[in-house]
Amino acid sequence: MYALVTGSSKGIGFAIARKFVQNGIHLILNSRNIIELESVRAELLGINPSVKILCCEADLSKKRGIETLSEFIYKECKELDILVNNAGVYLPGNIIHSEEGLLEKLMNANLYSAFYLTNSLLPKLRKSQAASIFNICSIAGLDPYKGGSLYCISKFAMNGFSRCLRQELLNDSIKVTTVYPGATWSDSWKGATIPDSRIMQAEDVAEAIISCVRMSPAAVVEEIIMRPQLGDL
Ligand SMILES: NC(=O)c1ccc[n+]([C@@H]2O[C@H](COP(=O)([O-])OP(=O)(O)OC[C@H]3O[C@@H](n4cnc5c(N)ncnc54)[C@H](OP(=O)(O)O)[C@@H]3O)[C@@H](O)[C@H]2O)c1
Repeated sequence: MYALVTGSSKGIGFAIARKFVQNGIHLILNSRNIIELESVRAELLGINPSVKILCCEADLSKKRGIETLSEFIYKECKELDILVNNAGVYLPGNIIHSEEGLLEKLMNANLYSAFYLTNSLLPKLRKSQAASIFNICSIAGLDPYKGGSLYCISKFAMNGFSRCLRQELLNDSIKVTTVYPGATWSDSWKGATIPDSRIMQAEDVAEAIISCVRMSPAAVVEEIIMRPQLGDL
């Protein structure tokens, strides 16, 4: 089984990649920094040397980056079974007095990346006997988040994309799962002083995803909503 995890050099994407490797799933890693990707590759091979791990540097907020990754997959991977659309950014910003171009930046990174990459990889996924797509949305795609309205807009759009995709692929036997994590420890929270008890670990999100992968072809988990036990920050 082969999985592509976008944005897998750190944070939630890295935790998912590590979980896949622990379960014997071959990987394609992606981010915008090949040096970091090669270092992650070495670390993961240390956990399970029997898996194949490929790296592709590509900026998925740009159409050219999506083409680069897609061409790489068609050329280098004999199969693709799992696509995790994880790459994304959090940038603060509200609707009123919004910074010029900020919404476009967030939509490119958080929605169009997944939209165009998925479209381009669907023919490859259709050849798999057990294809799954995981779209890493956010609880910010369910409810407004103070100070982050523009991020929320991009994640509400991702929510819509993912749920529509589920309907479109229902008869293609490609599972689609929308994942809505709450606050999860990652570089996005760097500098914040939050006690461990108030924030989830990326490993928790990875654990939820691998449990979906292990299910029989007859079952799909359509939505995963995860929050810190003590509630949203
Ligand atoms: N952490 C949270 O609390 C939280 C909660 C809900 C949802 N999420 C969502 O979970 C996903 C991962 O977040 P995270 O907190 O784990 O972030 P993170 O630690 O900042 O990691 C983001 C990953 O994506 C890559 N990336 C960013 N922009 C990219 C681009 N344009 N093209 C390719 N790769 C790109 C980064 O590498 P480079 O920068 O080197 O490219 C990195 O590998 C995001 O979609 C985020 O919105 C996070």
